[in-house]
Amino acid sequence: MCGIFGYIGKKENAAEIILEGLKRLEYRGYDSWGVAVVPTEDPNKNNKIVVKKRIGKIGDANVDELPTATIGFGHTRWATHGGVTQKNAHPHLDCTKTIALIHNGIIENYDSLKKDLVSTSHRFISETDSEVAVHLIEEYLKKEAFEKSVQKAFLEFHGLNALIALHAREKKLIAVRNGSPLVVGFGNGENYIASDAAALLPHTKDVYFLEDNDMVVVSDTDVELYNVVTGKKKRITKQKLAWDVSSSELGAYPHFMLKEIHEQPGLIVDISISGISSAKKLAGIIKKAYGTYFVGCGTAAYACIAASYLFSKIAKHHINWAVGSEFSYHLDFLTNKSLVVALSQSGETMDILESIKAAKQRGARIASLVNVLGSTLYRESDYPFLIGAGPEKGVASTKAFIAKLSHLILTAYALKGAVSKGSLLLKKTSKAGKQIVTNEYVLKLKKLVQRIKNASDIYVIGRGISYPASLEAALKIKEISYIHAEGLAAGELKHGPLALVEKGTPCIVYAPLDETFGANLAGAMEMRARGGYIIGISPKPHEVFDYYLPIEDVGEASIIPGVMVAQLLAYYLTIEKGYDPDKPRNLAKSVTVK
Ligand code: M6R
Repeated sequence: MCGIFGYIGKKENAAEIILEGLKRLEYRGYDSWGVAVVPTEDPNKNNKIVVKKRIGKIGDANVDELPTATIGFGHTRWATHGGVTQKNAHPHLDCTKTIALIHNGIIENYDSLKKDLVSTSHRFISETDSEVAVHLIEEYLKKEAFEKSVQKAFLEFHGLNALIALHAREKKLIAVRNGSPLVVGFGNGENYIASDAAALLPHTKDVYFLEDNDMVVVSDTDVELYNVVTGKKKRITKQKLAWDVSSSELGAYPHFMLKEIHEQPGLIVDISISGISSAKKLAGIIKKAYGTYFVGCGTAAYACIAASYLFSKIAKHHINWAVGSEFSYHLDFLTNKSLVVALSQSGETMDILESIKAAKQRGARIASLVNVLGSTLYRESDYPFLIGAGPEKGVASTKAFIAKLSHLILTAYALKGAVSKGSLLLKKTSKAGKQIVTNEYVLKLKKLVQRIKNASDIYVIGRGISYPASLEAALKIKEISYIHAEGLAAGELKHGPLALVEKGTPCIVYAPLDETFGANLAGAMEMRARGGYIIGISPKPHEVFDYYLPIEDVGEASIIPGVMVAQLLAYYLTIEKGYDPDKPRNLAKSVTVK
């Protein structure tokens, strides 16, 4: 969940290059940050590494006081072991201050390793599991070369980890991965390592995504790859990134979330054309499978639920769905004829990776709809499909959700043998989306924000495909505005939640013009009768709505404009409350721990 960025080359402003890289990665973790460099000038000849660490977001931080250097790395932290303090921030140093280390993951056996190291007089500064790694390398270095020391230390760790180590006397960065993502960027006379390829875009598009058990030794002119377990050298197969630098920059927008919401209409129309061939392929795979399971986490899980309605309605095809963290508890019946379709923006969500591992052990085949090329899910899938949303940096997932839905709609139509109809529907949906990102619509939303900003709870209801829309709308509202929001199947209201509706409680009602219209309105009436303030999202106004947010009727794709309205509402609520929508508290973009 942490951001990692390393540089080695000829430029003497390594600290600045690293800080810029970290700023691009801050969405991965943002409770504290740090940079370590090996000074070019070392007047005292003491070979000490210089470190700057701070708690809080990087924001406008600088590294002006750090010395000139051509090698170093930095880290943005999302705390696991040890509170958010400067001491717990990475990089960590060994006792001699000549080895530095940054780490992502959890060293599960850190406690016993620490006890041994303390008994051999290593002094620990932090409460982290990560610091164990740097002292263990220091210990091995008494007898071994640097590479061997890193390798031996890494092999002692239990759990899923990625780290980079550097030594003040060695002109190299050594990185190892088992679980958490790392990617090497190849420059000219300089090289990079990052936890996310998007951070490399300003420097290079030539990359190598580390696989599990890969260890790389990176100098300014060379990158050597080894298997960390066997020590055997491996061949590097480079990949080319297709994303533009501008796609990962804010441009004129104040926040990535707003930028990403605005990109959606264009994205839908792109997918209506570029997605056809993959939709046909995926439909063919689903057709052949004996039972298909869709799995995802958070927003991606809601796309899986939406898939179950879309496939049923459009293609008359049954699929199952599960949230990633629960999947392992009900996959016992999977066989070698089963298909698991994993949905993930990052392709690094640990609950998904564990799910597909368990499914593979039962012989199931794995397809994926994933946004990040070279991610673990992409590589581990038998049939990987890129959703092509471009870098998504807002922690609240928006365009990746809409991209997944667009691919799912096309795939459902392809399964029905009517992919062109799906493509036309998406073009219409793109136009419907454009009407929501207009100034006029935003004014309407801002007016509503004034009415509901002090609410302590918001309920969102819908039936059919509006049920996952309700879940997603509530998730967007709660995760960034911190207002408690609950998405409900409208029919469940009277089985309990209605007890919570009081005078003035904001209740959002999805009412698309499908077979659920009347029943959704009935739910609205029930809430209104208890004093609820009814906000209707529908192609058709109705007297039960206290506040009406119009969307165009785009048939089975109406979930797309419906959710876009909720994304923007969540965004403006958050702005009004003075919070940062891109970096909500306690969360990180890529959830690489269980
Ligand atoms: O990268 P993934 O799509 O696998 O991420 C899954 C969830 O962690 C993610 O959707 C999360 O729920 C977002 N914060 C929702 O906005």
